[in-house]
Amino acid sequence: MKVTVSRKAHFNAAHRLFVKSWSDEQNFKVFGKCSNPNFHGHNYEIIVNVKGDVDPITGMVIDLKYLKNIIKEDVEDLLDHKNLNIEIKYFDEVVPTAENICIFIWNILRNKIDSDKDISITLYETTRNYVKYSGN
Ligand code: NI
Repeated sequence: MKVTVSRKAHFNAAHRLFVKSWSDEQNFKVFGKCSNPNFHGHNYEIIVNVKGDVDPITGMVIDLKYLKNIIKEDVEDLLDHKNLNIEIKYFDEVVPTAENICIFIWNILRNKIDSDKDISITLYETTRNYVKYSGN
């Protein structure tokens, strides 16, 4: 029997959406205010979902303490209060949209969770705008 275990987390970060090879005008046309050259911040909320078999002995899909710790150490500590464009190397070449931040977080956590479990990440950029990535 597969059960999904979820954990919520939070970080604040700044970004600017722009394509380096485009003019400011073209960036503004596509990204609007989000291409403001002086950056802007969001209160990001994430939900990490881990789906797998319930271990017959421990009764758990994943140890929530472990899940809490990897989210804290590998995601929150990395991204919280950062300027994503400037301080996170991955976003040198990748536009830090909610979609791409979600994929970035998924890849980090995928490496930390046994491959017999499915993971998906939901990332809220605002209370109304959110994206989800499950790895395919
Ligand atoms: Ni934004």
